[in-house]
Amino acid sequence: MTLDGTDAYTGLAGLPPLVRRALDAARSRSFPYSCRPEQGRLLQLLAGGVGGPGGRIGETGTGMGVGLAWLASGARDGVRLVSVEREPERARAAAGVFHDRPETAVVHGEWQDIAAYGPFDLLVLDGGGQGKVPGDPAADVERLLVPGGTVVVDDFTPSGRWPPRFGGDVDRARLHWLEHPALRAVEVRLAPDLCAVVGTRRL
Ligand SMILES: C[S@@+](CC[C@H](N)C(=O)[O-])C[C@H]1O[C@@H](n2cnc3c(N)ncnc32)[C@H](O)[C@@H]1O
Repeated sequence: MTLDGTDAYTGLAGLPPLVRRALDAARSRSFPYSCRPEQGRLLQLLAGGVGGPGGRIGETGTGMGVGLAWLASGARDGVRLVSVEREPERARAAAGVFHDRPETAVVHGEWQDIAAYGPFDLLVLDGGGQGKVPGDPAADVERLLVPGGTVVVDDFTPSGRWPPRFGGDVDRARLHWLEHPALRAVEVRLAPDLCAVVGTRRL
């Protein structure tokens, strides 16, 4: 989880208007866990690669909608976006950010509910389904992605050794994604202290 994500935008110019709107919602509710701008730019770029109309983008863990705003800012016309958030007040506030964007929906629920809106061309796992927390299984990308579809799992810390380690232990969650038999996956360095795993489902 990105602890200082919302604060990381302080003083940044040139943000997409929808991202600024989501940041206003995050700041007004003192929500600190938004994705960092480096991650947001990755999401915007990947969203632009989803063909529309009919393309589908999904996200688990909406927060206040900053990541979803980056996705929506990059998506082509006709692409549908849906994000699932378990906290009802966050889901309601984030839905308000996208009130005039009918192609973008925020759903209140558990992350597994995202399956009802797939399979996806692009799926961002940011609140559930990452496989990082004991008892929270990793999302089944063979079910949730179309063949060739892309999954993004962020908020990893660059390790510089193999197998990757975090907090002194082998980072099992990162290995799960990097070695997933249904994916071609790579680690993408976004900042000296931040990386994401991006994988595409094998055809
Ligand atoms: C890191 S924040 C999301 C940040 C947001 N995606 C962004 O890019 O700005 C994680 C969010 O996931 C939500 N969450 C955590 N576990 C969840 C679950 N099992 N199902 C749905 N949402 C969950 C939390 O309530 C929190 O709002």
